Amino acid sequence: MTDHTPVPYAGPTRVLSGVQPSGALHLGNYLGALVKFARLQHEMDTFIFVADLHAITVWQDPAALAQQTREITAAYLAAGLDPAKATIFPQSAVREHSELAWIFQCVARLGWLDRMTQFKEKSGKHKERSSVGLYTYPVLQAADILVYKATHVPVGEDQKQHLELTRDIAGKFNHDYGTPAFFPQPEPLIQGPGARIMSLRDGSAKMSKSDPSDYSRINLTDDTDTISAKVRKARTDPLPLPETLEDLAARPEADNLVGIFGALTNQSKAEVLAEFGGKGFGVFKPQLEHALVMGIGPVRKELIRYLADPAEIDRILRAGAERASEVAAPTVAEVKKLVGFWGA
Ligand code: AMP
Ligand code: TRP
Repeated sequence: MTDHTPVPYAGPTRVLSGVQPSGALHLGNYLGALVKFARLQHEMDTFIFVADLHAITVWQDPAALAQQTREITAAYLAAGLDPAKATIFPQSAVREHSELAWIFQCVARLGWLDRMTQFKEKSGKHKERSSVGLYTYPVLQAADILVYKATHVPVGEDQKQHLELTRDIAGKFNHDYGTPAFFPQPEPLIQGPGARIMSLRDGSAKMSKSDPSDYSRINLTDDTDTISAKVRKARTDPLPLPETLEDLAARPEADNLVGIFGALTNQSKAEVLAEFGGKGFGVFKPQLEHALVMGIGPVRKELIRYLADPAEIDRILRAGAERASEVAAPTVAEVKKLVGFWGA
């Protein structure tokens, strides 16, 4: 993509990320995103939102959307996000996201968006029937990040390209308006054992809420029996677990299960192989099941507890939106000045 000479950004460090309220959360969301959010809130100023504006790029039932937003919020809290530490809010409640997104639509180039693989995947064979919003989705994402001048963005591997686009938009805006250090170049935080959790039915497809088979994923709401059944049915091969990382890499299903076990027990894949290499899945799977029940069970319990008190969730979201606006509004005011709008 376009190259802009980087100028050091001198503002404060800030974490920002979000998840769409478009279905139940799964283990990939939990390990790839939520766990990281909860850890980072202790290290930096943290903003975590529910991406409801992004969700409506594909149809969402108006009768269900607000409740889905509460469910994602409950999952954030269950994963350990603390509203006293992190600012938690619904994207649509902070109008500055949309306002900056429009200006960024005039900064981003068509050619940049044409390269976005997520649009190609999501629009499939029916590109001309997709919403325009699905196409400009990554531009809104750039606005989400830059309206807070966020410097660190924890996401799963699949969001890497959107972060590159965000950096390009920041660079072009800074260049075009002659303000070399106005927006930071946000860093994606992708590393870590949970960055890419794959389907339990197919080691080459990522675990996803849109997979038609519920056996492909572990949902945060799955009870112990469901987790057990899904682990038992998880696809494997007839060989014992490999002894080396090289051999593991050639066996996607085994690789995924070893990765999940490692992420849940804070071990590298090599450490997991040191324990289980040469042993059969008949030995490994019950251990994996145990790790999942221990890891997800308490989150599920907390999730249910938070969902029982929607008034408390709404209070957290309202307070978060207010705090978020206080940071976002000055950015948009400055941007309007830089662009040269009347009255800015
Ligand atoms: P989504 O559910 O697609 O809105 O994703 C929400 C967050 O979870 C994003 O940070 C994604 O990158 C992350 N994520 C989604 N699926 C996976 C997966 N299979 N493995 C790891 N992270 C994931
Ligand atoms: N596109 C992200 C996803 O599907 C959600 C998202 C929207 C996001 N805006 C963001 C993530 C800003 C990080 C930063 O998971």
